[in-house]
Amino acid sequence: MANSKYEYVKSFEANDEVMFPNLIVVRIDGRDFRRFSEVHEFERPNDEKALNLMNACAISVLEEYPDIVFSYGFSDEYSDIIAEVMMQNSIPHCFFFLFDICYKMEGVFPHERYEISPTFNGRVICCATIEVLQEYLAWRQNDCHANNQYNTCLWKLVESGKTEKEAQEILKEEDIAKYSENGTPVKRLRRKARILHSENIAGRSFWNVHQNLLKQLGCFAEDIGKINPDYIRSFLFENKLMPSTWIVIRIDGCHFHRFCDVHAFEKPNDVQALNLMNSCAVAVLEEFQDVIFSYGVSDEYSFVLKKDSKFLQRQASGIVSAIVSFFSSMYVMNWKSFFPQKELKYTPSFDGRAICYPSSEILRDYLAWRQVDCHINNQYNTCFWALVKSGKSKSDAQNTLKGTQALEKNQILAQFGIDYNALPAILRQGSSVFSVKEDVVIHENGSSVEKLRNKVIVEYCNIIEQSFWEAHPGILD
Ligand code: GTP
Ligand code: MG
Repeated sequence: MANSKYEYVKSFEANDEVMFPNLIVVRIDGRDFRRFSEVHEFERPNDEKALNLMNACAISVLEEYPDIVFSYGFSDEYSDIIAEVMMQNSIPHCFFFLFDICYKMEGVFPHERYEISPTFNGRVICCATIEVLQEYLAWRQNDCHANNQYNTCLWKLVESGKTEKEAQEILKEEDIAKYSENGTPVKRLRRKARILHSENIAGRSFWNVHQNLLKQLGCFAEDIGKINPDYIRSFLFENKLMPSTWIVIRIDGCHFHRFCDVHAFEKPNDVQALNLMNSCAVAVLEEFQDVIFSYGVSDEYSFVLKKDSKFLQRQASGIVSAIVSFFSSMYVMNWKSFFPQKELKYTPSFDGRAICYPSSEILRDYLAWRQVDCHINNQYNTCFWALVKSGKSKSDAQNTLKGTQALEKNQILAQFGIDYNALPAILRQGSSVFSVKEDVVIHENGSSVEKLRNKVIVEYCNIIEQSFWEAHPGILD
Protein backbone atom coordinates (compact mmCIF):
# COMPACT_ATOMS: atom_id res chain seq x y z
CA MET A 1 0.00 0.00 0.00
CA ALA A 2 1.07 3.56 -0.66
CA ASN A 3 3.10 5.54 1.86
CA SER A 4 2.07 9.07 2.77
CA LYS A 5 4.37 12.06 3.29
CA TYR A 6 3.54 11.84 7.00
CA GLU A 7 5.35 8.50 7.45
CA TYR A 8 8.40 10.30 8.86
CA VAL A 9 6.62 10.66 12.23
CA LYS A 10 7.29 6.95 12.77
CA SER A 11 10.90 7.85 13.62
CA PHE A 12 9.70 9.31 16.94
CA GLU A 13 8.61 5.88 18.12
CA ALA A 14 11.50 4.88 20.35
CA ASN A 15 12.32 1.23 20.51
CA ASP A 16 11.46 0.42 24.10
CA GLU A 17 11.83 -3.31 23.83
CA VAL A 18 12.78 -4.87 27.13
CA MET A 19 16.41 -5.96 26.80
CA PHE A 20 18.43 -8.70 28.37
CA PRO A 21 18.69 -9.98 31.09
CA ASN A 22 15.67 -12.00 30.34
CA LEU A 23 14.04 -12.47 33.71
CA ILE A 24 11.27 -9.96 33.70
CA VAL A 25 8.77 -9.18 36.38
CA VAL A 26 5.66 -7.26 35.46
CA ARG A 27 3.96 -5.91 38.52
CA ILE A 28 0.46 -4.58 38.27
CA ASP A 29 -1.17 -2.66 41.01
CA GLY A 30 -4.75 -1.44 41.38
CA ARG A 31 -5.16 2.28 40.79
CA ASP A 32 -7.13 3.99 43.54
CA PHE A 33 -8.30 0.57 44.68
CA ARG A 34 -9.23 1.87 48.07
CA ARG A 35 -12.05 3.80 46.41
CA PHE A 36 -12.93 0.80 44.25
CA SER A 37 -13.11 -1.50 47.28
CA GLU A 38 -15.19 1.00 49.26
CA VAL A 39 -17.65 1.57 46.44
CA HIS A 40 -18.05 -2.19 46.05
CA GLU A 41 -18.21 -2.76 49.80
CA PHE A 42 -15.35 -5.22 50.04
CA GLU A 43 -14.95 -6.81 53.45
CA ARG A 44 -12.16 -5.43 55.61
CA PRO A 45 -9.29 -6.02 55.94
CA ASN A 46 -9.54 -8.81 53.37
CA ASP A 47 -12.36 -9.76 51.09
CA GLU A 48 -11.93 -13.38 50.22
CA LYS A 49 -14.14 -13.14 47.17
CA ALA A 50 -12.14 -10.20 45.85
CA LEU A 51 -8.87 -12.08 46.38
CA ASN A 52 -10.30 -15.14 44.66
CA LEU A 53 -11.29 -12.91 41.78
CA MET A 54 -7.71 -11.59 41.52
CA ASN A 55 -6.42 -15.19 41.63
CA ALA A 56 -8.86 -16.35 38.97
CA CYS A 57 -7.62 -13.51 36.75
CA ALA A 58 -3.98 -14.44 37.40
CA ILE A 59 -4.71 -18.05 36.39
CA SER A 60 -6.25 -16.82 33.14
CA VAL A 61 -3.23 -14.62 32.49
CA LEU A 62 -0.88 -17.58 32.96
CA GLU A 63 -3.02 -19.69 30.67
CA GLU A 64 -3.16 -16.96 28.02
CA TYR A 65 0.57 -16.11 28.11
CA PRO A 66 2.71 -19.25 28.32
CA ASP A 67 5.88 -17.17 28.78
CA ILE A 68 4.75 -16.29 32.30
CA VAL A 69 6.01 -19.03 34.56
CA PHE A 70 5.07 -17.84 38.00
CA SER A 71 3.01 -15.14 39.54
CA TYR A 72 2.53 -13.87 43.05
CA GLY A 73 -0.20 -11.62 44.31
CA PHE A 74 -1.75 -10.12 47.38
CA SER A 75 -4.24 -7.35 47.95
CA ASP A 76 -4.64 -5.50 44.62
CA GLU A 77 -1.23 -6.31 43.16
CA TYR A 78 0.19 -9.15 41.14
CA SER A 79 3.72 -9.85 39.92
CA ASP A 80 4.17 -12.00 36.85
CA ILE A 81 7.54 -13.51 36.12
CA ILE A 82 8.47 -14.03 32.51
CA ALA A 83 11.34 -16.25 31.52
CA GLU A 84 11.89 -15.10 27.98
CA VAL A 85 11.80 -11.66 26.43
CA MET A 86 8.58 -11.60 24.49
CA MET A 87 7.33 -8.09 24.95
CA GLN A 88 7.75 -5.25 22.57
CA ASN A 89 6.62 -1.82 23.57
CA SER A 90 3.86 -3.09 25.73
CA ILE A 91 2.72 -5.18 28.63
CA PRO A 92 -0.38 -6.71 27.14
CA HIS A 93 -1.11 -9.24 29.83
CA CYS A 94 -1.71 -6.43 32.29
CA PHE A 95 -4.49 -5.25 30.08
CA PHE A 96 -5.80 -8.71 29.61
CA PHE A 97 -5.86 -9.03 33.38
CA LEU A 98 -8.13 -6.06 33.62
CA PHE A 99 -10.48 -7.40 31.03
CA ASP A 100 -10.60 -10.61 32.80
CA ILE A 101 -11.57 -8.94 36.04
CA CYS A 102 -14.48 -7.31 34.28
CA TYR A 103 -15.43 -10.51 32.65
CA LYS A 104 -15.41 -12.64 35.74
CA MET A 105 -16.95 -10.02 37.97
CA GLU A 106 -20.46 -11.19 37.35
CA GLY A 107 -19.63 -14.78 38.20
CA VAL A 108 -17.97 -13.90 41.48
CA PHE A 109 -20.33 -11.16 42.60
CA PRO A 110 -23.56 -12.35 41.04
CA HIS A 111 -25.78 -9.78 42.72
CA GLU A 112 -23.53 -6.79 42.39
CA ARG A 113 -22.80 -4.54 39.48
CA TYR A 114 -19.85 -2.34 38.80
CA GLU A 115 -20.21 1.19 40.01
CA ILE A 116 -16.79 2.27 38.77
CA SER A 117 -14.40 0.42 36.56
CA PRO A 118 -11.20 -1.08 37.98
CA THR A 119 -7.90 0.16 36.55
CA PHE A 120 -4.40 -1.16 37.06
CA ASN A 121 -0.98 0.40 36.73
CA GLY A 122 1.81 -1.77 35.38
CA ARG A 123 5.57 -1.67 35.87
CA VAL A 124 8.39 -3.70 34.42
CA ILE A 125 11.28 -4.84 36.61
CA CYS A 126 14.24 -6.50 34.93
CA CYS A 127 16.01 -8.97 37.17
CA ALA A 128 19.64 -9.44 36.31
CA THR A 129 19.94 -12.79 38.05
CA ILE A 130 17.84 -15.40 39.77
CA GLU A 131 19.10 -14.03 43.11
CA VAL A 132 17.61 -10.62 42.33
CA LEU A 133 14.33 -12.33 41.53
CA GLN A 134 14.54 -14.22 44.80
CA GLU A 135 15.04 -11.00 46.76
CA TYR A 136 12.21 -9.38 44.86
CA LEU A 137 9.84 -12.20 45.81
CA ALA A 138 10.95 -12.10 49.42
CA TRP A 139 10.37 -8.34 49.47
CA ARG A 140 6.84 -8.63 48.07
CA GLN A 141 5.87 -11.45 50.39
CA ASN A 142 7.29 -9.59 53.33
CA ASP A 143 5.18 -6.59 52.38
CA CYS A 144 2.18 -8.89 52.19
CA HIS A 145 2.77 -10.10 55.77
CA ALA A 146 3.42 -6.62 57.10
CA ASN A 147 0.45 -5.03 55.34
CA ASN A 148 -1.86 -7.80 56.30
CA GLN A 149 -0.89 -7.68 59.93
CA TYR A 150 -1.17 -3.91 60.01
CA ASN A 151 -4.58 -3.92 58.31
CA THR A 152 -5.91 -6.68 60.54
CA CYS A 153 -4.88 -4.65 63.61
CA LEU A 154 -6.27 -1.45 62.13
CA TRP A 155 -9.73 -2.81 61.37
CA LYS A 156 -9.93 -4.66 64.71
CA LEU A 157 -9.29 -1.33 66.44
CA VAL A 158 -11.92 0.34 64.25
CA GLU A 159 -14.40 -2.44 65.08
CA SER A 160 -13.70 -1.88 68.78
CA GLY A 161 -14.94 1.70 68.43
CA LYS A 162 -11.85 3.73 67.46
CA THR A 163 -11.93 6.06 64.47
CA GLU A 164 -9.66 5.13 61.56
CA LYS A 165 -7.40 8.06 62.40
CA GLU A 166 -7.09 7.01 66.06
CA ALA A 167 -6.30 3.46 65.01
CA GLN A 168 -3.60 4.74 62.61
CA GLU A 169 -2.08 6.80 65.44
CA ILE A 170 -1.91 3.77 67.71
CA LEU A 171 -0.16 1.69 65.06
CA LYS A 172 2.15 4.45 63.93
CA GLU A 173 5.84 3.94 64.47
CA GLU A 174 8.31 5.99 62.52
CA ASP A 175 11.60 4.50 61.61
CA ILE A 176 14.54 5.54 59.49
CA ALA A 177 13.98 3.69 56.27
CA LYS A 178 16.90 5.15 54.33
CA TYR A 179 19.06 8.22 53.88
CA SER A 180 18.46 10.68 51.08
CA GLU A 181 21.28 11.88 48.82
CA ASN A 182 22.15 14.85 51.05
CA GLY A 183 22.41 12.54 54.06
CA THR A 184 19.17 13.43 55.83
CA PRO A 185 17.26 10.45 57.18
CA VAL A 186 14.03 9.56 55.40
CA LYS A 187 11.44 8.49 57.92
CA ARG A 188 8.79 5.98 57.04
CA LEU A 189 5.99 4.30 58.90
CA ARG A 190 6.93 0.87 60.09
CA ARG A 191 4.66 -1.76 61.50
CA LYS A 192 5.38 -2.91 65.03
CA ALA A 193 5.64 -6.64 64.63
CA ARG A 194 6.27 -9.05 61.80
CA ILE A 195 5.24 -12.62 61.37
CA LEU A 196 6.68 -15.01 58.86
CA HIS A 197 4.26 -17.16 57.03
CA SER A 198 5.27 -20.78 56.94
CA GLU A 199 5.02 -20.82 53.16
CA ASN A 200 8.04 -18.82 52.07
CA ILE A 201 7.90 -18.34 48.35
CA ALA A 202 11.47 -17.04 48.23
CA GLY A 203 12.86 -19.99 50.20
CA ARG A 204 14.67 -22.94 48.70
CA SER A 205 12.26 -25.35 50.38
CA PHE A 206 9.42 -23.86 48.31
CA TRP A 207 11.18 -22.96 45.09
CA ASN A 208 13.55 -25.83 44.51
CA VAL A 209 10.95 -28.56 44.79
CA HIS A 210 8.93 -27.22 41.86
CA GLN A 211 10.31 -28.80 38.73
CA ASN A 212 8.89 -26.24 36.30
CA LEU A 213 10.38 -23.33 38.22
CA LEU A 214 13.74 -25.07 38.40
CA LYS A 215 13.65 -25.83 34.72
CA GLN A 216 12.59 -22.43 33.50
CA LEU A 217 14.21 -20.09 35.98
CA GLY A 218 16.88 -22.09 37.79
CA CYS A 219 17.25 -22.87 41.46
CA PHE A 220 17.66 -20.61 44.48
CA ALA A 221 21.18 -21.29 45.71
CA GLU A 222 20.61 -19.84 49.16
CA ASP A 223 17.81 -18.69 51.35
CA ILE A 224 17.39 -14.98 51.77
CA GLY A 225 18.97 -13.47 54.81
CA LYS A 226 18.56 -9.71 55.03
CA ILE A 227 16.16 -8.14 52.56
CA ASN A 228 17.41 -5.03 50.86
CA PRO A 229 14.43 -3.37 49.11
CA ASP A 230 16.53 -0.48 47.73
CA TYR A 231 18.70 -2.97 45.88
CA ILE A 232 15.60 -4.42 44.20
CA ARG A 233 14.10 -0.99 43.55
CA SER A 234 17.25 -0.06 41.64
CA PHE A 235 16.12 -2.55 38.99
CA LEU A 236 12.75 -0.88 38.49
CA PHE A 237 12.41 0.11 34.89
CA GLU A 238 11.65 3.85 34.86
CA ASN A 239 10.87 5.32 31.52
CA LYS A 240 10.06 8.99 31.97
CA LEU A 241 8.70 10.78 28.94
CA MET A 242 10.54 13.87 27.81
CA PRO A 243 9.21 17.06 29.44
CA SER A 244 7.40 19.71 27.37
CA THR A 245 6.50 17.33 24.58
CA TRP A 246 3.10 16.17 23.43
CA ILE A 247 2.55 12.63 24.65
CA VAL A 248 0.58 10.29 22.45
CA ILE A 249 -0.60 6.98 23.85
CA ARG A 250 -1.53 4.71 20.96
CA ILE A 251 -3.43 1.58 21.82
CA ASP A 252 -4.19 -1.25 19.44
CA GLY A 253 -6.36 -4.34 19.76
CA CYS A 254 -4.33 -7.54 20.17
CA HIS A 255 -5.19 -10.13 17.51
CA PHE A 256 -8.36 -8.25 16.72
CA HIS A 257 -8.86 -10.11 13.46
CA ARG A 258 -9.69 -13.14 15.63
CA PHE A 259 -11.81 -11.12 18.04
CA CYS A 260 -13.80 -9.65 15.12
CA ASP A 261 -14.26 -13.09 13.53
CA VAL A 262 -15.40 -14.73 16.75
CA HIS A 263 -17.91 -11.95 17.35
CA ALA A 264 -19.03 -11.92 13.71
CA PHE A 265 -18.33 -8.23 13.14
CA GLU A 266 -19.47 -6.99 9.78
CA LYS A 267 -16.77 -6.86 7.11
CA PRO A 268 -14.88 -4.73 6.41
CA ASN A 269 -16.38 -2.33 8.96
CA ASP A 270 -18.77 -2.85 11.78
CA VAL A 271 -20.20 0.55 12.70
CA GLN A 272 -21.51 -0.67 16.06
CA ALA A 273 -18.01 -1.94 16.95
CA LEU A 274 -16.59 1.47 16.03
CA ASN A 275 -19.25 3.19 18.12
CA LEU A 276 -18.28 0.98 21.05
CA MET A 277 -14.61 1.98 20.63
CA ASN A 278 -15.72 5.63 20.50
CA SER A 279 -17.75 5.33 23.71
CA CYS A 280 -14.61 4.06 25.46
CA ALA A 281 -12.54 6.94 24.08
CA VAL A 282 -15.13 9.45 25.34
CA ALA A 283 -14.90 7.82 28.78
CA VAL A 284 -11.08 8.16 28.68
CA LEU A 285 -11.33 11.89 27.97
CA GLU A 286 -13.85 12.29 30.78
CA GLU A 287 -11.73 10.32 33.24
CA PHE A 288 -8.25 11.66 32.41
CA GLN A 289 -8.29 15.45 32.36
CA ASP A 290 -4.84 15.61 30.72
CA VAL A 291 -6.04 13.80 27.59
CA ILE A 292 -7.16 16.60 25.32
CA PHE A 293 -7.75 14.90 21.99
CA SER A 294 -8.03 11.44 20.60
CA TYR A 295 -8.31 9.87 17.20
CA GLY A 296 -9.46 6.34 16.48
CA VAL A 297 -9.77 3.99 13.56
CA SER A 298 -10.39 0.23 13.35
CA ASP A 299 -9.00 -1.36 16.55
CA GLU A 300 -6.64 1.50 17.42
CA TYR A 301 -6.94 4.78 19.26
CA SER A 302 -4.39 7.56 19.81
CA PHE A 303 -4.74 9.68 22.94
CA VAL A 304 -2.97 13.04 23.08
CA LEU A 305 -1.94 14.36 26.49
CA LYS A 306 -1.33 18.06 26.92
CA LYS A 307 2.25 19.21 26.56
CA ASP A 308 2.79 20.20 30.18
CA SER A 309 1.04 17.14 31.60
CA LYS A 310 2.44 15.89 34.91
CA PHE A 311 0.17 12.86 34.95
CA LEU A 312 1.88 10.00 36.84
CA GLN A 313 5.15 11.96 36.71
CA ARG A 314 5.16 11.31 32.94
CA GLN A 315 6.14 7.71 33.57
CA ALA A 316 5.48 5.86 30.32
CA SER A 317 4.41 2.46 31.61
CA GLY A 318 2.18 4.03 34.25
CA ILE A 319 0.35 6.25 31.77
CA VAL A 320 0.06 3.55 29.10
CA SER A 321 -1.28 0.96 31.49
CA ALA A 322 -3.71 3.36 33.19
CA ILE A 323 -5.23 4.41 29.87
CA VAL A 324 -5.24 0.97 28.32
CA SER A 325 -6.74 -0.73 31.33
CA PHE A 326 -9.40 1.94 31.70
CA PHE A 327 -10.24 1.76 27.99
CA SER A 328 -10.34 -2.02 28.11
CA SER A 329 -12.65 -2.20 31.08
CA MET A 330 -14.97 0.35 29.48
CA TYR A 331 -15.04 -1.83 26.36
CA VAL A 332 -16.26 -4.78 28.41
CA MET A 333 -18.63 -2.68 30.50
CA ASN A 334 -20.19 -1.00 27.45
CA TRP A 335 -20.40 -4.13 25.33
CA LYS A 336 -24.03 -4.93 26.18
CA SER A 337 -25.20 -1.41 25.29
CA PHE A 338 -23.85 -1.75 21.77
CA PHE A 339 -24.40 -5.47 21.23
CA PRO A 340 -27.45 -6.37 23.34
CA GLN A 341 -28.01 -9.56 21.34
CA LYS A 342 -24.37 -10.69 21.25
CA GLU A 343 -22.56 -12.46 24.03
CA LEU A 344 -19.00 -11.34 24.73
CA LYS A 345 -17.28 -14.65 24.07
CA TYR A 346 -13.85 -13.82 25.44
CA THR A 347 -11.98 -10.87 26.79
CA PRO A 348 -10.36 -8.61 24.22
CA SER A 349 -6.99 -7.09 25.03
CA PHE A 350 -5.11 -4.03 23.84
CA ASP A 351 -1.45 -3.14 23.79
CA GLY A 352 -0.19 0.39 24.12
CA ARG A 353 2.83 2.57 23.54
CA ALA A 354 3.84 6.12 24.44
CA ILE A 355 5.43 8.47 21.91
CA CYS A 356 6.61 12.06 22.43
CA TYR A 357 6.30 14.78 19.79
CA PRO A 358 8.24 18.01 20.32
CA SER A 359 5.98 20.44 18.43
CA SER A 360 2.31 20.81 17.59
CA GLU A 361 3.22 20.70 13.88
CA ILE A 362 4.74 17.25 14.27
CA LEU A 363 1.87 16.16 16.45
CA ARG A 364 -0.54 17.22 13.71
CA ASP A 365 1.54 15.32 11.17
CA TYR A 366 1.25 12.28 13.43
CA LEU A 367 -2.53 12.60 13.47
CA ALA A 368 -2.53 13.20 9.72
CA TRP A 369 -0.50 10.00 9.28
CA ARG A 370 -3.12 8.02 11.19
CA GLN A 371 -5.95 9.60 9.18
CA VAL A 372 -4.24 8.95 5.84
CA ASP A 373 -3.73 5.35 6.99
CA CYS A 374 -7.42 5.15 7.86
CA HIS A 375 -8.35 6.25 4.36
CA ILE A 376 -5.84 3.97 2.60
CA ASN A 377 -6.84 0.91 4.65
CA ASN A 378 -10.53 1.61 4.41
CA GLN A 379 -10.46 2.05 0.67
CA TYR A 380 -8.42 -1.12 0.22
CA ASN A 381 -10.60 -3.16 2.59
CA THR A 382 -13.84 -1.92 1.03
CA CYS A 383 -12.56 -2.99 -2.41
CA PHE A 384 -11.20 -6.28 -1.10
CA TRP A 385 -14.44 -7.36 0.55
CA ALA A 386 -16.55 -6.15 -2.41
CA LEU A 387 -14.46 -8.44 -4.64
CA VAL A 388 -14.68 -11.35 -2.19
CA LYS A 389 -18.44 -10.90 -1.76
CA SER A 390 -18.75 -10.95 -5.57
CA GLY A 391 -17.32 -14.48 -5.60
CA LYS A 392 -13.54 -13.94 -5.97
CA SER A 393 -11.19 -15.89 -3.70
CA LYS A 394 -9.18 -13.85 -1.19
CA SER A 395 -5.94 -14.35 -3.13
CA ASP A 396 -7.64 -13.36 -6.42
CA ALA A 397 -8.96 -10.22 -4.75
CA GLN A 398 -5.45 -9.44 -3.46
CA ASN A 399 -3.97 -9.89 -6.91
CA THR A 400 -6.60 -7.69 -8.51
CA LEU A 401 -5.77 -4.88 -6.07
CA LYS A 402 -1.99 -5.23 -6.27
CA GLY A 403 -0.42 -1.96 -7.43
CA THR A 404 -3.74 -0.17 -7.94
CA GLN A 405 -4.00 3.56 -7.22
CA ALA A 406 -6.88 5.31 -5.41
CA LEU A 407 -8.62 6.18 -8.68
CA GLU A 408 -8.58 2.58 -9.92
CA LYS A 409 -9.91 1.35 -6.59
CA ASN A 410 -12.78 3.80 -6.81
CA GLN A 411 -13.49 2.49 -10.32
CA ILE A 412 -13.60 -1.08 -9.03
CA LEU A 413 -15.99 0.04 -6.28
CA ALA A 414 -18.15 1.82 -8.85
CA GLN A 415 -18.60 -1.53 -10.65
CA PHE A 416 -20.31 -2.77 -7.48
CA GLY A 417 -22.43 0.37 -7.22
CA ILE A 418 -20.36 1.75 -4.35
CA ASP A 419 -19.50 5.45 -4.37
CA TYR A 420 -16.52 5.61 -2.01
CA ASN A 421 -17.08 9.26 -1.19
CA ALA A 422 -20.65 8.54 -0.17
CA LEU A 423 -19.61 5.98 2.47
CA PRO A 424 -20.29 7.12 6.05
CA ALA A 425 -17.71 9.64 7.29
CA ILE A 426 -16.94 7.47 10.36
CA LEU A 427 -15.39 4.92 7.96
CA ARG A 428 -13.55 7.35 5.66
CA GLN A 429 -12.34 9.85 8.26
CA GLY A 430 -12.08 7.86 11.49
CA SER A 431 -13.30 9.33 14.79
CA SER A 432 -11.99 12.40 16.58
CA VAL A 433 -12.88 12.87 20.22
CA PHE A 434 -12.42 16.16 22.05
CA SER A 435 -14.08 18.61 24.45
CA VAL A 436 -16.16 21.61 23.52
CA LYS A 437 -17.68 24.21 25.79
CA GLU A 438 -21.45 24.22 26.02
CA ASP A 439 -23.87 26.55 27.72
CA VAL A 440 -25.93 24.97 30.45
CA VAL A 441 -28.56 26.47 32.67
CA ILE A 442 -28.16 25.44 36.30
CA HIS A 443 -30.98 25.94 38.78
CA GLU A 444 -29.63 27.07 42.13
CA ASN A 445 -31.66 28.29 45.10
CA GLY A 446 -34.65 29.12 42.97
CA SER A 447 -32.73 31.09 40.33
CA SER A 448 -31.28 29.99 37.00
CA VAL A 449 -27.62 30.58 36.22
CA GLU A 450 -26.01 30.12 32.81
CA LYS A 451 -22.67 28.33 32.95
CA LEU A 452 -20.08 26.99 30.53
CA ARG A 453 -19.43 23.27 30.79
CA ASN A 454 -17.02 20.94 29.03
CA LYS A 455 -18.66 18.31 26.90
CA VAL A 456 -16.77 15.49 25.17
CA ILE A 457 -17.95 14.95 21.60
CA VAL A 458 -17.14 12.59 18.72
CA GLU A 459 -16.76 13.98 15.20
CA TYR A 460 -15.90 12.37 11.89
CA CYS A 461 -13.97 15.15 10.24
CA ASN A 462 -10.84 15.99 8.30
CA ILE A 463 -8.09 16.64 10.86
CA ILE A 464 -5.37 16.90 8.23
CA GLU A 465 -6.62 20.28 7.06
CA GLN A 466 -5.73 23.49 8.84
CA SER A 467 -9.41 24.46 9.03
CA PHE A 468 -10.20 21.87 11.74
CA TRP A 469 -7.51 23.24 14.06
CA GLU A 470 -8.52 26.82 13.31
CA ALA A 471 -12.11 25.97 14.19
CA HIS A 472 -10.97 24.43 17.48
CA PRO A 473 -8.03 26.54 18.64
CA GLY A 474 -8.52 25.47 22.27
CA ILE A 475 -7.38 21.89 21.69
CA LEU A 476 -3.67 22.46 21.08
CA ASP A 477 -3.52 25.86 22.74
P1 GTP B 1 -2.16 -7.21 16.19
O1 GTP B 1 -2.62 -5.78 16.36
O2 GTP B 1 -0.81 -7.32 15.61
O3 GTP B 1 -2.33 -8.01 17.44
O4 GTP B 1 -3.15 -7.92 15.10
P2 GTP B 1 -4.62 -7.54 14.70
O5 GTP B 1 -5.29 -8.79 14.30
O6 GTP B 1 -5.29 -6.73 15.76
O7 GTP B 1 -4.43 -6.69 13.38
P3 GTP B 1 -4.33 -5.12 13.13
O8 GTP B 1 -4.31 -4.35 14.41
O9 GTP B 1 -3.23 -4.89 12.18
O10 GTP B 1 -5.66 -4.79 12.35
C1 GTP B 1 -6.91 -4.73 12.95
C2 GTP B 1 -7.75 -5.90 12.49
O11 GTP B 1 -8.98 -5.87 13.23
C3 GTP B 1 -8.16 -5.82 11.05
O12 GTP B 1 -7.25 -6.44 10.23
C4 GTP B 1 -9.48 -6.56 11.03
O13 GTP B 1 -9.23 -7.95 10.88
C5 GTP B 1 -10.03 -6.33 12.42
N1 GTP B 1 -11.09 -5.29 12.43
C6 GTP B 1 -11.02 -4.04 12.91
N2 GTP B 1 -12.20 -3.39 12.78
C7 GTP B 1 -13.05 -4.28 12.21
C8 GTP B 1 -14.43 -4.24 11.83
O14 GTP B 1 -15.12 -3.21 11.98
N3 GTP B 1 -14.96 -5.36 11.27
C9 GTP B 1 -14.23 -6.49 11.09
N4 GTP B 1 -14.81 -7.57 10.55
N5 GTP B 1 -12.94 -6.57 11.44
C10 GTP B 1 -12.35 -5.48 11.98
MG1 MG C 1 -4.61 -4.85 16.36
